[in-house]
Amino acid sequence: MKKTLTDIDVNEKKVIVRCDFNVPLDEAGRIADDTRIRGALPTIRYLAEHGAAVILLSHLGRPKGEPNPKYSLKPVADALADRLGAPVWFKSVPTVVDDEVKEKAASLKSGEIMLLENTRFRKEETDNDAAFAKTLASLADIFVNDAFGTAHRAHASTEGIARYIPAVSGFLIEKEVKFLGDALNNPARPFVAILGGAKVADKIGVIESLLAKADTLLIGGGMAYTFLKSEGYEIGKSILDENGIELAASLLKKAKDAGVELLLPLDVKTGKEFDNDTESAYFDSDAIPADRMGMDIGPKTAARFIEKIRSAGTVLWNGPMGVFEMPNFAEGTRAVANALAESKAVSIIGGGDSAAAAEQFGLSGLMSHVSTGGGASLEFIEGNILPCIAALTDKD
Ligand code: 3PG
Repeated sequence: MKKTLTDIDVNEKKVIVRCDFNVPLDEAGRIADDTRIRGALPTIRYLAEHGAAVILLSHLGRPKGEPNPKYSLKPVADALADRLGAPVWFKSVPTVVDDEVKEKAASLKSGEIMLLENTRFRKEETDNDAAFAKTLASLADIFVNDAFGTAHRAHASTEGIARYIPAVSGFLIEKEVKFLGDALNNPARPFVAILGGAKVADKIGVIESLLAKADTLLIGGGMAYTFLKSEGYEIGKSILDENGIELAASLLKKAKDAGVELLLPLDVKTGKEFDNDTESAYFDSDAIPADRMGMDIGPKTAARFIEKIRSAGTVLWNGPMGVFEMPNFAEGTRAVANALAESKAVSIIGGGDSAAAAEQFGLSGLMSHVSTGGGASLEFIEGNILPCIAALTDKD
């Protein structure tokens, strides 16, 4: 167990907090989804209310170690000030830290908040450079890591910094680890996992980990077609992960040997082209015509999956059931999201596209937990140690 905010005294202390403000921006540079900003608010509020001077850090996008105005955290500073109802000092410094930033941090008072520029404007960030980590640490007395979405990246502002000042977790990391950890290690049963996504290889670690823990695995989305192919079905023009066919067959066998129920789509909604307006039609999974591609699960599959969700004690969902970005192929993903929202089970969305889908359908607030991690939650589910959490101080 790692120390968290409530295990330490932050009054009159300078506290540097790593958040994951890597939010999607639209073409005009506006924040398209503020889930990650909202996720960080409890920690920031707690610190400000308990007398800390709060210095915030984050990356945004992948600016490749160089300053790039497109990836400035300025919109995040504005959004934060708005949500907190308090000023957030911000200056777009290409080097992230300069003399003015140091002076501001040194004179920051209890309850005041500042945000530094995108840490990835410096190559030293992703290099986990010790000197850069020390510079960041020198601004504060305590490090709080609340960036669950970046917990799998050992960078200067996430892992390196924890070597130089006392380091504890924020409320978001604590909550993520609790929900995902309980689901994996102590789930209310039956434990149903729903997986989608395009490539079997991307999810192999996740599937193997879940085969040892879940009672039922429901497979939809792009990778379902590779599984169907491995069962000998023709899948027409549906997405196929050629290299994943053998893998899919071996996973099906492993599920059988382990006594885990693994359900593939019974039927699919197909189109002729990868286009929302393509002429669509439903087919059973063993009768997909050669000139069509599966783009969503069909109604028989949705009904079966919903039945499993309704009788579950815990549901963990990662990966949409179809091309939900296209309204004509969003029904399957919406049906699954609705079933999760209505179910009495502990409902957890493992980040990434399925979290975006739940948000798009306005259902996020009805889930027990929506992870703010994409890659990080997958690694957690796989059972990998997340280096930035490992770097935090253990509880006594
Ligand atoms: C994410 O969005 O998954 C995290 O913010 C990490 O971003 P990265 O994949 O660019 O390291």
